[in-house]
Amino acid sequence: MRTIAICNLKGGVGKTATAVNLAWHASQRGHNTLLWDIDAQGASTWYFTKDDPADSFKAARLVRQKMSLGSLIRKTPYKHLDLIPSDLSLHKMDILLNENKDNLFKEWFSQLGEDYRTIIIDCPPTLSRLTLNILEACDRIIAPALPTPLSYMTIQQMRQVMEEHDLPTKKLYPVLTMIDRRKKVHQEFMANAKKSLGRKPIGFIPYASDVEKMGEHRAPLGTFAPRCPAALAYQLLWENVCKKVL
Ligand SMILES: Nc1ncnc2c1ncn2[C@@H]1O[C@H](COP(=O)(O)OP(=O)(O)OP(=O)(O)O)[C@@H](O)[C@H]1O
Ligand SMILES: [Mg+2]
Repeated sequence: MRTIAICNLKGGVGKTATAVNLAWHASQRGHNTLLWDIDAQGASTWYFTKDDPADSFKAARLVRQKMSLGSLIRKTPYKHLDLIPSDLSLHKMDILLNENKDNLFKEWFSQLGEDYRTIIIDCPPTLSRLTLNILEACDRIIAPALPTPLSYMTIQQMRQVMEEHDLPTKKLYPVLTMIDRRKKVHQEFMANAKKSLGRKPIGFIPYASDVEKMGEHRAPLGTFAPRCPAALAYQLLWENVCKKVL
């Protein structure tokens, strides 16, 4: 089992789009995949639950071990792809996790055993106790970032915070998202990406209205526009993740 966090303290950089599409590509390979939506916004959950609102659960019950993580797992419409849906109560996770000095994510991952080949976590846009625990417990971190200076800065900040907590920064892999190759500023940032990010990005996702249409379809890109450039870019990203990361 491999655990991959999709994380950046910056908001709106394509974390959820990346989590949803990577999880779908992983499942298409026939690998049992679990997507854990740990963001109280519930965007990943929303993409997978067309009709009914997700069942409600209380984050406090999970953290206080009154409820098992396994009991939260739901099927998605896609074979080999399960979901742990979000709940609004997740906004209290930081406070709740402070009740316990252990990193509960390590315990939760071990409870899942080998049921899943890959677990992908869609993180909230923060660098909090919650995300630090996830950064520590996960095998790899994929950090989506826009090709802009402020977005690059947040990758450096993540690295800095990881170093402060003695976490290996080599498990952090940036991905550039929403790239508009017609924009000179994007071209320049892409040319300097390795230097500015401290590592060559593991993927390049173009800006595409098809990604926004995921909101209309409430489904991963590959299910309704499999040949569009963004879908192909996500497919390539998943192949790179398998090759270089897993
Ligand atoms: N490659 C892309 N091309 C065009 N639009 C995109 C692309 N990726 C994401 N978007 C759009 O950008 C918005 C933010 O994307 P997303 O929700 O994936 O970001 P996020 O980092 O998860 O945000 P948050 O920090 O709020 O969780 C959404 O409306 C999404 O449809
Ligand atoms: Mg999100």
